[in-house]
Amino acid sequence: MSLSGKNILIAVSGGIAAYKIHFLIRDFVKKGASVQVIMSPDAEHFVTKLSLSTLSKNPVYSEFYSDNGTWNSHVEMALWADVMIFAPCTSNTLAKMVHGICDNLMIATYMSAKCPVFIAPAMDLDMYQHPSTKLNLELAEDFGHIVIPAENGELASGLVGQGRMAEPETISNTIADFFTDNKKSLHGKKILITAGPTYEAIDPVRFIGNHSSGKMGFYLAEKAAKRGAEVTLISGPSSLNTKHENIQLHRVTSAKEMYSKVFEFYENADIAIASAAVADYAPKEIASEKIKKNDETLTIELIKNPDILKTMGEKKTHQFLVGFALETQNEEENALAKLHKKNLDMIVLNSLRDEGAGFQKDTNHIRIFTENDRFEFDLKSKEEVADDILNQIETLILK
Ligand code: C5P
Repeated sequence: MSLSGKNILIAVSGGIAAYKIHFLIRDFVKKGASVQVIMSPDAEHFVTKLSLSTLSKNPVYSEFYSDNGTWNSHVEMALWADVMIFAPCTSNTLAKMVHGICDNLMIATYMSAKCPVFIAPAMDLDMYQHPSTKLNLELAEDFGHIVIPAENGELASGLVGQGRMAEPETISNTIADFFTDNKKSLHGKKILITAGPTYEAIDPVRFIGNHSSGKMGFYLAEKAAKRGAEVTLISGPSSLNTKHENIQLHRVTSAKEMYSKVFEFYENADIAIASAAVADYAPKEIASEKIKKNDETLTIELIKNPDILKTMGEKKTHQFLVGFALETQNEEENALAKLHKKNLDMIVLNSLRDEGAGFQKDTNHIRIFTENDRFEFDLKSKEEVADDILNQIETLILK
């Protein structure tokens, strides 16, 4: 993980966890970042400017004016930063941040900053649980700041509970991940994604459906949006939601509705990913009234649904087309056959035989096939799998 070329401004407030900031600076520097430290006047009771400036190789300020009469420009430091991290963030500093109580250089710098802000709170367990802390952390998140939650464990007071500042390595990894997630590598690309199951009505109250949760498609949409893509997400019935400003979510119910929606957007898409578990068949007739249980047997005649992805393959002009294959036998052979039959550029195979893969799970175990290559991945969270899939797409479209 790299932070090469990034400017990181660490804001240290007056808590015992400040002693860990030396390790945090070292970690940032090791990852290639430039570091400046700013502190609240109280933080000087816990750590010295000398040790922090030696490690960060930059002067450390806590006051608006230095002893030699020079003004320390909070604006300049705020504009320099690619990211600002409050660590440790005491309840006092947190409250000042969210209410604009600008009585020290550190808060003035914060209020001038336009960069992403991270907060690593550290306080005693009862303070951490206090409604005012909870409210202030919520407010900070509403501002768009990212809270790195305090950890459980032994506290300086001797009590044990949640309140310990996250470990320096956790903090630096979270920030490195943030930059990886936010590389705008898909900026300007229009991505169409299908997700979730489809429900095929039998009568006004019943349907034929499947166990798909929509997780894979929603993660793909979120991750692509974070990379700057303009995403159209067409989802069958799923309890999931997304509020990302780069995602236009359309909810549909049946395969036919999904089909119509997809072809409203397909022509303009650069990349299309079909992760929906579309029902292959739908009842030929939908009963207009609830079917009564009069007979011992009930026969429902099914007719084939349109194959959305296959039609996308037939209509393909410039789009990079990705399909999914969920197989229970002859996985590789079936996935490759689908790649050709549906005219795809890439197919993602997950086997129901793999433990941890498939419907409703949080993890997935995938293999990716293209015409000439195959890529194997470990069992991972669906969020990480979404990144693997997008990385592979990016590599192939940029070839
Ligand atoms: O042929 P099969 O259903 O196994 O193919 C799975 C792939 O095709 C998935 O990417 C799925 O989203 C897509 N598909 C579709 N429309 C269908 C059936 C499957 O888009 N009716």
